[in-house]
Amino acid sequence: MTRHFLRDDDLSPAEQAEVLALAKRLKASRYAARPFEGPQAVAVIFDKPTLRTQASFTAGIAELGGYPMLVNGALAQIGTRESVPDTARVLGRMVSAVVWRTFGQDRLEEMAAHAGVPVVNALTDEFHPCQLLADLQTIEEHKGPAAGLTVAFLGDAASNMSHSFLLAGTTAGMHVRVSGPEGFAPDPAVLSTASQIAAGTGGSASYVLDPQEAVTAADVVVTDTWVSMGKEDEAEERQRPFRRYAVTGDLLAHAHDDAIVMHCLPAYRGKEIDAEVIDGPRSVVWDEAENRLHAQKALLTWLTEHQT
Ligand code: NVA
Repeated sequence: MTRHFLRDDDLSPAEQAEVLALAKRLKASRYAARPFEGPQAVAVIFDKPTLRTQASFTAGIAELGGYPMLVNGALAQIGTRESVPDTARVLGRMVSAVVWRTFGQDRLEEMAAHAGVPVVNALTDEFHPCQLLADLQTIEEHKGPAAGLTVAFLGDAASNMSHSFLLAGTTAGMHVRVSGPEGFAPDPAVLSTASQIAAGTGGSASYVLDPQEAVTAADVVVTDTWVSMGKEDEAEERQRPFRRYAVTGDLLAHAHDDAIVMHCLPAYRGKEIDAEVIDGPRSVVWDEAENRLHAQKALLTWLTEHQT
């Protein structure tokens, strides 16, 4: 069976812990895993903008002994010039894994159904699971085991980051509160899956309208842009309803004194987060960015080792 990583709950709690333990080992010993020695190629495809994801996957695949084959999404025109299944069949003959940032989750699922090699979600409209592996690694570095900690995500609670926090956070046994304005609640199916996962891990999942209530006594406060890629035409109308969800020093005062602040970046200072917060002592955003490298290397290594 080919294992894929299309959404956060594709890894069980035990499997997620294995990947995070490997990420920690690879951070300490950068060249300890060489699953793509050869070098074998791994396709890395972007249908949306990128900085960290391209840098971390290409550097990471090279450090794993492989060749990062950047496929330009604008040239490949997957789904228009060539169908997703045909693209998957071609790439599957040439590469050891496919990493894809795209729009709908259905596109990624179709790729996985036909590629015959592991497919990794490098962000879709619905989920951003690689970011969450890095985020959990960062949380454990700064706060110890994630299980039992409370995380508050503020902003677009209907976004990929909110959904991934719900699924991956509960998988890790965390209490996950996502908070955003009316009209931007998480997908009820994702919230319900997160609650089911939480029932088995001792965590919890909730959507909280009031941002102050969400951050009260939180150990980790997270935000993200209010305008995800693909939503640019809604940028103006989102400013007013989202304003009270901005991570300011005043709002942060309701969290635990030793709470850490996270942001997957890119950040818009003065909008979803104040400069004094993201550039202040509680911010761990640069560790978080670096951990994309280690966490994704661990994931690719784990997936390669778990093909049957
Ligand atoms: N929610 C953001 C994450 C960027 C890494 C987006 O989808 O644009």
